[in-house]
Amino acid sequence: MAQLAQSKVKLILIGSFSVLILMVLLLFLPPSVSGSAALSESEEAIERGKYLVIAGGCISCHRGEDEEESFIGGLALVSDFGTFYAPNITPDMETGIGSWQAKDFLLALQHGRKPGGSFYYPAFPYRAYAGLRDQDVLDIGSYLMSLEPQNNAVPEAQTPIWLNRWAMAGWNLLADMAEADAETFEDELVARGAYVARNLGHCSECHTPRNTLGILDASREFAGATLGEEVIEAINAEALSEWTTNNFDIFLFIGLKPDGDFAGGDMNDVIEHNTSKISDEDRDALAAFFTRHNQSE
Ligand code: HEC
Ligand code: HEC
Repeated sequence: MAQLAQSKVKLILIGSFSVLILMVLLLFLPPSVSGSAALSESEEAIERGKYLVIAGGCISCHRGEDEEESFIGGLALVSDFGTFYAPNITPDMETGIGSWQAKDFLLALQHGRKPGGSFYYPAFPYRAYAGLRDQDVLDIGSYLMSLEPQNNAVPEAQTPIWLNRWAMAGWNLLADMAEADAETFEDELVARGAYVARNLGHCSECHTPRNTLGILDASREFAGATLGEEVIEAINAEALSEWTTNNFDIFLFIGLKPDGDFAGGDMNDVIEHNTSKISDEDRDALAAFFTRHNQSE
């Protein structure tokens, strides 16, 4: 009897150990993305991609320090977790993404994974881009690959010793668990606004508070946050209770608030490079999404 019990324990141990190994492997193995995906070189795909790159606010981080219109990278993003440098995302073979294929864009933007399997730091807002449709990511890739290759080497991220790239496997898992369930909207304009705000425009990256690990607090979406010294206002239903869709539209276009103040700080960048340049339809969609709580009243 005792022997039987012993082998049972052994089996359970072996079983749990295998599950553990499997979990660890799953954590580190690159996620599967569509293997048949391809980057189109059509004018149409490149134009769509160009627009998505504007709506995605990519240039705010990836512009050159002196060359503000290019994607050569080099800007230092200083945070509580270290200093991160936005890389060169022109198709330069040596210092950029010249060798990238369709699947590399899907892995990077939707999963935060490097071509070799390693991890990006979430200073790159891939958690927001994770919700982008495959075709949108591929069109972004088509556009970036159509740019003039420019040579510009960017420094490696400087992080405290305990914060290495492989630790991001655990961080991603915790962030997955903290994520809110996807919400669906009946109103098409509001649904588009949610996509532009939550995914492309990554408004949460600045406007939603984080826990000590830097993971967004989904239960307090858009409740305001601090970024270093900067105080970032809340843009949830309560904070925007007085804003009409028209107020919101004007703010996204020129930065003027209903009380006559103008936007300051990092929001200026967002307005200049992103929300003032998107289509009227997408600005209306953002306005409809953020003021949706006011409309039913
Ligand atoms: C808030 C700043 C920020 C924004 C906005 C941003 N990125 Fe990045 N991006 C980064 C940082 C920082 C890294 C590098 C992270 C690291 O070192 O792990 C990065 C990495 C990348 C890489 C990997 C490049 C390489 O050589 O490995 C690609 C591709 C990329 N971003 C594309 C985009 C696109 C496309 C957009 C817009 C849809 C975008 N990024 C928006 C900061 C940003
Ligand atoms: C890089 C960080 C950053 C991102 C990304 C960002 N914001 Fe902001 N936002 C700010 C800061 C900082 C302020 C405060 C500006 C000020 O002091 O006037 C602000 C202010 C605002 C305000 C004014 C709130 C008030 O009550 O005065 C609105 C509305 C707003 N943002 C909307 C958005 C939307 C919509 C997006 C996404 C498309 C977005 N923000 C993305 C940093 C950001």
